Amino acid sequence: MNLLIINGPNLNLVGKREPSIYGTQTLSDIQEELLTLASQIGAKLNFFQSNSEGDMIDCIQKSVGSIDGILINAGAYTHTSIALRDALLAVGIPYVEIHLSNIYSREEFRQKSFLSDKALGLVCGFGPYSYQLALHAIVNALKQI
Ligand code: DQA
Repeated sequence: MNLLIINGPNLNLVGKREPSIYGTQTLSDIQEELLTLASQIGAKLNFFQSNSEGDMIDCIQKSVGSIDGILINAGAYTHTSIALRDALLAVGIPYVEIHLSNIYSREEFRQKSFLSDKALGLVCGFGPYSYQLALHAIVNALKQI
């Protein structure tokens, strides 16, 4: 099972960025942990991070034919980007939405996601562990499709 993990804007700064909200683990720490888990549950991971909406869309479009599922933390684009939603729907690859923080306990503008209703599911609020939960969930879900 070949999975793509997409992280959007400012997630390259996780670990330093607002640690009281996002924790102190860096994105590469999170990715290392995911690789360990992936090797235990039989998934191959491909990582992509960009601060650019267009680059994220290009990456999604290029996934057709090689990627079975996508884990995406789109950062602030979650709340703004119809284009990202359209790209995910255009390729038709099942995806799980991730957030480090619980977006529903924060500002009202974070409580709207353009991705959630079409996602297999949403994991938020567990810090870096959100990614591990989402990895378990997508592997399990894809085995049943
Ligand atoms: C985030 C939540 C978003 O609202 C925010 O813009 C981010 C990070 C999270 O992982 O909690 O950049 O996606």
